[in-house]
Amino acid sequence: MLMSAELAPSVLAADFARLGEEVAACERAGADRIHIDVMDNHFVPNLTLGPDVAAACRRSCGLRLEVHLMVEEPDAIIPAFAAAGVDLITVHFEACRQLHHTVSVIRQQRARVGVAINPATPTHFLDSILAEIDLALVMSVDPGFGGQQFQPGALAKLVKLRSMIDTRDLSCELEVDGGIDSSNARACLDAGATVLVAGTSVFRARGGVEAGVGCLLAEMGRNPKAASAPASLP
Ligand code: DX5
Ligand code: ZN
Repeated sequence: MLMSAELAPSVLAADFARLGEEVAACERAGADRIHIDVMDNHFVPNLTLGPDVAAACRRSCGLRLEVHLMVEEPDAIIPAFAAAGVDLITVHFEACRQLHHTVSVIRQQRARVGVAINPATPTHFLDSILAEIDLALVMSVDPGFGGQQFQPGALAKLVKLRSMIDTRDLSCELEVDGGIDSSNARACLDAGATVLVAGTSVFRARGGVEAGVGCLLAEMGRNPKAASAPASLP
């Protein structure tokens, strides 16, 4: 099935002092959803955002929200993110002792379900869960920090997962996260990705957020919204 790919700016690279304006700018520029990176200082060596920040994003734009939980044993925190208005909750394969149970906890909250794998985790580890989830996330950096360099090994993993999804005629989205910019976005799409996460290349773009989103949308073959075009004439 041919779907047009989506862009998910990661607010990890946003100016937190102006978070509302930053996500609103993503929406004006034509991004599809906002990606919120949640780190617990256990699964990864960094500490970031919680449900209140997701709720603040919810109040600041009309885009769908997705959280990427880089959190060990995330079950207890899942309801708070669902209550904050998050549409899709992604957990890490490596962080869940009972992944099927965690998937059911997310479903009970009526959120969509994603499962992520680290660069060192082979794609076949998702084999038995793929039919039960809405999104598979291939990490193209070791999770924990924004601004890292894209690991090209992610491309072969995207190709493998694309084949697993298509062979079984699943509707699961395929997302890639880490170091995505205009130099590798096309290759990720060609490898089968349907959602691109981008932090630094959106929020730290030289021409601002609109330019960052516009540049990636152009790589995706989509027309950026004319955020900087003059308002319609009377
Ligand atoms: C890394 C995070 C990514 C990251 C993306 O642990 O999951 O979402 O913030 O940021 P960039 O695009 O800067 O790699
Ligand atoms: Zn992420």
